[in-house]
Amino acid sequence: MEAKSQTTSEKYAADIASIREAQVRINPFIHATPVLTSETLNTIAGRKLFFKCECLQKGGAFKFRGASNAIFSLDDDQAARGVVTHSSGNHAAALSLAAKLRSIPAYIVVPKNAPKCKVENVMRYGGQIIWSEATLQSREETAAKVLQETGAVLVHPYNDGRVISGQGTISLELLEQAPQIDTIIVPISGGGLISGVALGAKSINPAIRVLAAEPRGASDAAQSKAAGRILVLPETNTIADGLRASLGDLTWPVVRDLVDDIIIVDDKEIIEAMRLCYEILKVAVEPSGAIGLAAVLSNSFRENPAWKDCNHVGIILSGGNVDLGVLWDSLSK
Ligand SMILES: Cc1ncc(COP(=O)(O)O)c(C=O)c1O
Repeated sequence: MEAKSQTTSEKYAADIASIREAQVRINPFIHATPVLTSETLNTIAGRKLFFKCECLQKGGAFKFRGASNAIFSLDDDQAARGVVTHSSGNHAAALSLAAKLRSIPAYIVVPKNAPKCKVENVMRYGGQIIWSEATLQSREETAAKVLQETGAVLVHPYNDGRVISGQGTISLELLEQAPQIDTIIVPISGGGLISGVALGAKSINPAIRVLAAEPRGASDAAQSKAAGRILVLPETNTIADGLRASLGDLTWPVVRDLVDDIIIVDDKEIIEAMRLCYEILKVAVEPSGAIGLAAVLSNSFRENPAWKDCNHVGIILSGGNVDLGVLWDSLSK
């Protein structure tokens, strides 16, 4: 039975109904990604782990869920004008791919420091690239200019109810595949992924814990939760290139109310988690995608008495778009 509790659409940008609608809308287009388990990793972690392989999603990341929900929600007039977004990579590729499936243009504002493989993905899927500086301000200003010139519809990478609802479909799938899960660990950046997952999962099972995993060099979500308001860091420094954004006004209320805790990990723990994903699970996971495994193995998680009875832990391996050059360099350090 689904709890009505606080997860209603009056309060948040998405709810279980919008997530279920998204599931029906996007199911013909997405992959239902597998859940992998490993006795070796269970032994290392001291609990049972369930890896939701969104790195095997189309476009190589969960972002295709939110992007395709947004694009297939547009009416024909809106769709004809195309879509625009600014993104460090995975959302950009996902939006390009979803736009291609609907045969509409996608204008993608990409910061100059975006990883090469992610830019190549955008090109592969036919997105039209417009370069910006690396700052959020430059990205937003460039996107606003494109909006004005083209009349396209903005699809924000995370601060958008359609995107949040699409990402929430992961929790519906995961809890069907592994209903025994009592905890889900989710990478956090702008908070679209964790908002959708928390709203979906807690509607199905209000007792489930939803924990965020965040890099120490971009720990704005943890600092925001501690301060009780959105904080934006002047700069970030982490190998997890997908986790450098700040919370938005639609994701912040969900993170504030429904995320039980934020586990902070160091880059070297992320790299070790990537190594385990490759060596043991045999899946290609990017740093942002491996952070959930890093969190469950971290001392701060293991030693926290609050999480002692998290026995069945779902971990979202959120993406697999990794620059091989960067990977080899980091693994050989
Ligand atoms: C692989 C990967 N994981 C996690 C995230 C974080 O998602 P969100 O910004 O919705 O918190 C991103 C965002 O780009 C990503 O690319």
